Amino acid sequence: MTQHTLFVCILCRFSATERSHEGVSGGQFLFNQLQAGLESSGETDRIHLQPVRCLGACDRSCVVAFTAPSKLTFVLSQLSSTHSVPALLQFSQQYVSCIGGKVPYGERPEAVKKGIHAVLPPSPQ
Ligand code: FES
Repeated sequence: MTQHTLFVCILCRFSATERSHEGVSGGQFLFNQLQAGLESSGETDRIHLQPVRCLGACDRSCVVAFTAPSKLTFVLSQLSSTHSVPALLQFSQQYVSCIGGKVPYGERPEAVKKGIHAVLPPSPQ
């Protein structure tokens, strides 16, 4: 089975309009919410949630990346720590299901459409 990974920067800050939650960073809060969402939907076997300490777009927090062998890599930024979880969970299912990770633009959740930071082609074999 193809290994799908969702990287989440756990050092990203909350945006200026979001207040701090639980005494953790915005990225850690987002990671915790995604982990709970994937567990409750039984998706943890299909996509691996991986915390990382910076994805290099620190002024555009929160930042995550979807990647898998032979698939497009999506780097998303300027995601809300508190409101983007449903969209990211929906996109996770779409990304896992689509050949090459090519989720049609019109079918992507709005937060994903707005959050596209970069799309990378599959790594050369
Ligand atoms: S701190 Fe999150 S991308 Fe650098």
